[in-house]
Amino acid sequence: MKELKNFMRAKTKLKSKSQNKKPIGIFDSGFGGLTVMSAMRKKFPNENLIYFGDTAHVPYGSKSKDAVIKFSKNIAAFLLKNNVKLIVAACNTASAFALTALQKSVDIPVIGVIEPGAQSAVNATKIKKIGIIGTEGTISSKSYVKAIKKISKASVYGQACPLFVPLVEEGWTNDAAASYIAQIYLAPLREKKIDTLVLGCTHYPLLKSVLQRAAGNKINLIDSADAVTVKAGNLLANNLLLNDSKKRGSLSFYVSDNPEKFKKIGAKFFKGRIKKVKKIDLG
Ligand code: DGL
Repeated sequence: MKELKNFMRAKTKLKSKSQNKKPIGIFDSGFGGLTVMSAMRKKFPNENLIYFGDTAHVPYGSKSKDAVIKFSKNIAAFLLKNNVKLIVAACNTASAFALTALQKSVDIPVIGVIEPGAQSAVNATKIKKIGIIGTEGTISSKSYVKAIKKISKASVYGQACPLFVPLVEEGWTNDAAASYIAQIYLAPLREKKIDTLVLGCTHYPLLKSVLQRAAGNKINLIDSADAVTVKAGNLLANNLLLNDSKKRGSLSFYVSDNPEKFKKIGAKFFKGRIKKVKKIDLG
């Protein structure tokens, strides 16, 4: 409902048909949101996409709610200056802590990964038992639990997995250390006999095979990157804001620190070469 209102407000601001050519802004605490950028690029190759990775402040997962709201608002202001038509909070922790604040303060639509991920999990579970894994911030916010409880009577079990983010950033995504840690983190969820597991963090899609083994072969793994991409597409289509250009859209990448490292590590998350990254100081 809030999103609809947001969109109506945004629509009244539309002055010409060229509004649909505006870029989509995607942000994250660092590299992780590139999994969302990659899914968006695949699904909407004609859209112009702008990505902001807040590499000066990563990780968000262990920061306070106030800090994450402040960082997210600064990024939204930067994306607005770049004339975006939609903002996607690709970061689960930012979606958990800052989405409502952003939706209140910005007059274009802002969507996050929690609600679409929750909806996909509810669609997937047969026995109404869902596990959520994420950063300490995402799990302690209970955002996924609340989003699922709004639409289903499913039992929901959360598990913070703080070691996964550094493991993925070190490139240890499919080795013995990752498997061992995953077994330990997922043991309580296995005991609850869940049939669906939400990968509630941007980095976890890179651990998919390890997580599938640790959770059990039959467990549905839910990737919020895919879910939020579908939601973004529906919102844009319903509001005639999908880019109707036949040309391939542009890709722009910005970070708050260390653009060279972003280029190197980011390629893994984006599943493609990142040619140019610009450093922006948001204060
Ligand atoms: N992007 C964050 C998330 O999805 C993970 C990394 C971090 O802690 O900043 O929650």
